[in-house]
Amino acid sequence: MSIDSSNIIKPFVEKKGGLMPALHALQHHLGFISKDNIAELAIAFNCSQAEVIDVITFYDDFRLVPIGKNIIKICQAEACQSQNCKQLLSDLTSYFSLEMGETSDDLNVTLKEVFCLGNCAVGPSVMINDTVIGEATTEKIISHLKNDATQKL
Ligand code: FES
Repeated sequence: MSIDSSNIIKPFVEKKGGLMPALHALQHHLGFISKDNIAELAIAFNCSQAEVIDVITFYDDFRLVPIGKNIIKICQAEACQSQNCKQLLSDLTSYFSLEMGETSDDLNVTLKEVFCLGNCAVGPSVMINDTVIGEATTEKIISHLKNDATQKL
C-alpha cells in the first residue's frame, strides 16, 4: 500500500512552524523529499517552492534523492586518519564503484564521509546504519552487510 503524502503533511499544516515537522515526517515515511513533495508543501504552507528548498538544503539531514538501505559512514577525522581511514575510504569507493555521498543503483548502499563517531581508540571507524565497527576493513564491512542481510531473511 503506498503512503499518501497529503495525509503525512495534513497534521502539521495548521501548526506554527509546521514545515519542519512535516519535512521530517515525509522523509521518515518516504525516505526522501521528492519534487512533488516540495510543490505540495509550498501549497500547503502557502510559501514558494524556493522557500521549501531553502529549508531542506539548510539542514544536512534532509535528502532530495533516495538513500540506500545501508548507510555506511566512514570516519575521516584526525584519530582515524592516523589509522589509515583515507585508504579505507578509497578501497570502499572502489569496491562499490561509488563516490562519497552516492547511492548504489539498487539502493542497497550509500557511502558517507563523517567526522568522528566517538570510537577513536579503535580506528579506522565506520558506522553501518546503527552499528559502529572499529578497526574497520573492507572485508569486515562486506561481512557485516552479508550477515545483516542473512539475518533479515
Ligand atoms: S576520529 Fe574517527 S571515530 Fe573519532
